[in-house]
Amino acid sequence: MQATSAQDEAKRAAAAKAIETFLRDGMTIGLGSGTTSRWFVRILGERVGSGLRVTGVPSSRSTGDLAKEVGVPLADLNDVNQLDLTIDGADEIDAKGRMIKGGGASLLWEKIVAYASRKMVAIVDESKVVEHLGRFPLAVEVIPFAWRSTERNLRNLFKDAGLSDVQIDLRGGLEKPLITDSGHYLLDCHLREIPDPDNLAAELSQIPGVVEHGLFIGIATDSVVGHANGHTEVVSFR
Ligand code: 5RP
Repeated sequence: MQATSAQDEAKRAAAAKAIETFLRDGMTIGLGSGTTSRWFVRILGERVGSGLRVTGVPSSRSTGDLAKEVGVPLADLNDVNQLDLTIDGADEIDAKGRMIKGGGASLLWEKIVAYASRKMVAIVDESKVVEHLGRFPLAVEVIPFAWRSTERNLRNLFKDAGLSDVQIDLRGGLEKPLITDSGHYLLDCHLREIPDPDNLAAELSQIPGVVEHGLFIGIATDSVVGHANGHTEVVSFR
């Protein structure tokens, strides 16, 4: 399969470099979700076809479907103690490896899979590398029950954190809200800039009704940044 745009080429390059740099025969690996991760899974399928032995744990139903299609053997995370490595995309990543994820609606399973891994490598095109997190809307996964009440609590938290006039969108809209793989809603919070992501991440987790949020702090161990000309940079955070 060919890359169809400069950004797509950058995503493909990052995925290929991550496989070359971090993946070893015999590993059990978390398979990320989103368009960059789809490149990763497709290339992985080619390597498996050439004899690489790996077991994949998908972070969404759609990634699981693709992995099966391209011949990557799969396991259930319940049956695996620890993963050697997870390779996944990101919507934003800063110089400390802090990320916003969830643009593809899979943040809950992605965080569980990444957290179960010894190493987590973020594969991103250069547009995802930011000085400050927050321009990309922060997805918060919430229980559908009383979600308006959870939304109000989010608003109060943002106000207390000095974030004013935050627009919050129910992903998919009121008529037909998007339902995540675990049966929840997503609230996309337009924060513009997050002054203290570590603190906000901790506070978000305290709100009843919040299942998980898209701030991934202290999870990425490395990243591979792809450029449209096919060049890549490997960055280590620990
Ligand atoms: C899905 C994610 C994705 O990794 C993130 O949205 C990046 O996606 P893409 O590779 O398509 O730009 O977090 O929940």
